[in-house]
Amino acid sequence: MQLDSVQLRHGQVTATVCIYAAHVTRFAVRGKDVLFLSQRALFEPPKVKSSLPGHLGVSFALLQAIRGGVPIIFPQFSGRGKLPSHGFARNQYWRVVSKEGDRSVTLALEDTEETRRLYPPFRALYTVTLTDDASLELTFRVEAKERELSFTFALHSYFAIGKIEQTFVTGLKGVQYEDQLQGSRIETDQNERIAIDREVDRVYLGVPPQLSIVDGSNSRTIRLSTSDTLPDAVVWNPWEAKALKMAADFGPTEYHNMLCVEVAAVGAPVIVKPRESWVASHTISVADDGSRL
Ligand code: BG6
Repeated sequence: MQLDSVQLRHGQVTATVCIYAAHVTRFAVRGKDVLFLSQRALFEPPKVKSSLPGHLGVSFALLQAIRGGVPIIFPQFSGRGKLPSHGFARNQYWRVVSKEGDRSVTLALEDTEETRRLYPPFRALYTVTLTDDASLELTFRVEAKERELSFTFALHSYFAIGKIEQTFVTGLKGVQYEDQLQGSRIETDQNERIAIDREVDRVYLGVPPQLSIVDGSNSRTIRLSTSDTLPDAVVWNPWEAKALKMAADFGPTEYHNMLCVEVAAVGAPVIVKPRESWVASHTISVADDGSRL
């Protein structure tokens, strides 16, 4: 089964948006990838046989998330609730609702009979735009229908970096985090530049609206900015042992070349009243070294 996608192009930037999961699988500036996509990423859900007519009738619980790019984590981050881990938006078929030339596309996801067994009715819209200043802009909007929604959320971006040992995250000094590898123990980061030299899985709570990933060996800085509706950030790298456990869709050495910095609303659930909506936006851009934040 081939997954359909939309190609975006504007000036010197390009992006690919897979309709399955509304998943940005590629964002490149002047031909250089900003997002990591595993060489083992599964685009063909293993349990879906090609004899099935498209995806019709296939339970989303059987569909795999794509390892890399920007999975949308909604309506539950990780195992923090009763829903499937990381929710269900990342393994649903979305639909394209509008397109603005080659620079912007909006996709929609609504409740189905299957999601209603787990979660109240909702309508989500996700717009992916390439901007004049060569950024990728992601805007997620969700409306509650007749019942209140409560959810946690993340844009689980996988960034492509040259070498993990020459990579740093900046902007998190003095910020508290839950260390998910230590039973969510609360720590405070004291580092101006956070180096990644082992498995890291942290939920930073109350982060500034701008963070950076210094991708030293590519001589560039990836800049992340968010709306104030995304007060948290997750920093994740599985490192070697975990990578081996993820072998179905992640190569054993790929942890060298990726880092997830996920902008999120995780510390406290977001509540949306009936017929109201919630909007979150996130912008990713790249600066050549010399103009680091
Ligand atoms: C991160 C979590 O957001 O996602 C990690 O903090 C998790 O704990 C990772 O391992 C990947 O999750 P998954 O379900 O895509 O393998």
